[in-house]
Amino acid sequence: MPDLLSLLELRHSVPSRHLGGPAPDEGQLQRLFAAAVRVPDHGKLVPFRLIRLQGENKRIWGERLVELALRKRPDMSPAKLEKERLRYSYAPLVVAVVARLQERGKVPEIEQRLSAGCVAHNLLLGAYALGFGAQWLTGWAAYDPDASRLLGLAANEHVIGFVHIGTAQDEVPDRDRPPLEEVLGTWTA
Ligand SMILES: Cc1cc2nc3c(=O)[nH]c(=O)nc-3n(C[C@H](O)[C@H](O)[C@H](O)COP(=O)(O)O)c2cc1C
Repeated sequence: MPDLLSLLELRHSVPSRHLGGPAPDEGQLQRLFAAAVRVPDHGKLVPFRLIRLQGENKRIWGERLVELALRKRPDMSPAKLEKERLRYSYAPLVVAVVARLQERGKVPEIEQRLSAGCVAHNLLLGAYALGFGAQWLTGWAAYDPDASRLLGLAANEHVIGFVHIGTAQDEVPDRDRPPLEEVLGTWTA
């Protein structure tokens, strides 16, 4: 396993269509999930939860989303429909990372969403550390109230992302990264 800094330097997404089986085994997954939820959390609100989509239930989830998409856009092109059909078919495991926002109190919503975002990023890093590939996707379903109901979310819960996890089926190159000088400055008085 690479050290933590090398992991940060090397990790990149594997697009979901390049993912397939096997998924991490249950022991690896328990370790991955336990590590992923160790995130900064203002007020210790635990403003997140994870929902696993796998096996037959993942297939049904994908089918129900296609039905939902078709209800909303009956004129969808065959190419778009095919994309919808395949969306959840590649990776053997998809983890919905959900922000559960506590609306009362002093911790702004954005901070709670950021904590949940850290969980999603930890899943990417942890999957990579275990030798698997992963990608963080949202897509329309992350923002659609009907899809949220299908997932069983409460009114204060929002999908931060669907993290697709599996084994890279082929070599995926890294992408260009922003030059450090573009994003790094030093404040001077
Ligand atoms: C919140 C969030 C949502 C994203 N949703 C999508 C998406 O719906 N479709 C997509 O192609 N990429 C999406 N991406 C981008 C990919 O997850 C990923 O960042 C990109 O493919 C490669 O970046 P990486 O190699 O640094 O991980 C999203 C990224 C973030 C942070």
